[in-house]
Amino acid sequence: MLKFISTFYLIEKHYLSLSTTNTMKNHKSRRDFIKKSIAVGIAIPILGSSLLACESKETKKLKILILGGTSFLGPHQIKYALDRGHSVSIFTRGKTKSTVHPEVFSQVEHLIGDRNDNLTALEKGEWDLVIDNSGRDVKWTTDTAELLKDRAKLYMYTSSTGVYYPYLGDNITEKTETLTKEPEALESEDEKLEYWYGVMKTNSENAVVKAFGIDRTIIARPTYMFGPGDKTNRFIHWPVRLAKGGEVMVPGKVDDLVQYADVRDVAEFMIRLAENNTTGKFNIAGPTNQQTMQEFVNEAKSAFDVDSKTVLIDDYDFLEKNGVYYLVPWIPPIGKNYGSSRTANSKAIAAGLTFRDLKTSVKEMHDWWYSDAMTQEQRDKFEKNPKGVLKKEEEIIKKWKALKG
Ligand SMILES: NC(=O)c1ccc[n+]([C@@H]2O[C@H](COP(=O)([O-])OP(=O)(O)OC[C@H]3O[C@@H](n4cnc5c(N)ncnc54)[C@H](OP(=O)(O)O)[C@@H]3O)[C@@H](O)[C@H]2O)c1
Repeated sequence: MLKFISTFYLIEKHYLSLSTTNTMKNHKSRRDFIKKSIAVGIAIPILGSSLLACESKETKKLKILILGGTSFLGPHQIKYALDRGHSVSIFTRGKTKSTVHPEVFSQVEHLIGDRNDNLTALEKGEWDLVIDNSGRDVKWTTDTAELLKDRAKLYMYTSSTGVYYPYLGDNITEKTETLTKEPEALESEDEKLEYWYGVMKTNSENAVVKAFGIDRTIIARPTYMFGPGDKTNRFIHWPVRLAKGGEVMVPGKVDDLVQYADVRDVAEFMIRLAENNTTGKFNIAGPTNQQTMQEFVNEAKSAFDVDSKTVLIDDYDFLEKNGVYYLVPWIPPIGKNYGSSRTANSKAIAAGLTFRDLKTSVKEMHDWWYSDAMTQEQRDKFEKNPKGVLKKEEEIIKKWKALKG
């Protein structure tokens, strides 16, 4: 029996460990605000959560405030937004330096503070759009949504498919119930953290809706993201491993499904949602159609011109005994993780979500990993980790073959 494994929390653990009101003078009534919004072309949508994804004929240049902006998702949002003529302010503590698109940071306004106890830099200013990437405390999001509700037109909260934990369904849509409360009796610390994360994201989403109203709120719920700038080291196994060729271990049963999203597809979709004033809640998970783990590896390996052969290891107990509890995008689809790769993406696709070719994503992530953006020390930490699957793979395949005769 496989022990419980935490998915989103494990995946974002690194992110979490890395980071350890005034209203405006000329306070506008909501009616004035809506009038002004209409006048400048960012109409408060009459259809509310519209699925109409038509591109604006002429994209209005937006003033965007990103709460965050310097870690993983943010730099890609900034690059895309600037390329499309928007202007960007970012609010951070000024500690984190991006490993991607360093050139964009001289083109944005830097507002420095701390979501824990210093929002002074956000007490002035007006924006068309707030993107809340760094929200990982309900109070943080409640405070910024309240502070900005009369000075920003739209508030976009970067949530997660973690709101659906435990993943029990076959088709998890935006209407599927989300977690609002942690159960009292939980078995493991990992499980507690998984519930905490889902509850925190759901209640943060609700805090935004409460302050901005449903018609001015966009909720983005990405699944596991990967791509240049990823600091979690969870997906990099595949670009690094597949580039080497030879016998490649593929964990899981032949019909185990996977889902993932290139961070750039997520970033660009989020900006386009705001450009089109498309409000509502959106699951962001690729690929377009269902894909098995084996299909994923076969497509990903075509990024490299090397000979390789896959070895499917479809015994969950054997994998666990050998320290392979998950290997993102593979998460054993059992128990509370049954539906973790069964998130419906049709609403987001109808609203304009597109997916890069996996082969391109994998190749570009590989190139980023071996570029000057990363140090040899950072690469070694992952690639030479004696407990890592990369190091243990050969031995695991050997054992598996011996077992199977
Ligand atoms: N990674 C995934 O697979 C995944 C999947 C689903 C959802 N998500 C969600 O996606 C979001 C993206 O996060 P990201 O890190 O990539 O965003 P980001 O916008 O690239 O960066 C976030 C920035 O927030 C700043 N920050 C941290 N603590 C702060 C504080 N107390 N006050 C002010 N600023 C603070 C940090 O800069 P300083 O250190 O300089 O302050 C950090 O660089 C998260 O909400 C995450 O939950 C991620």
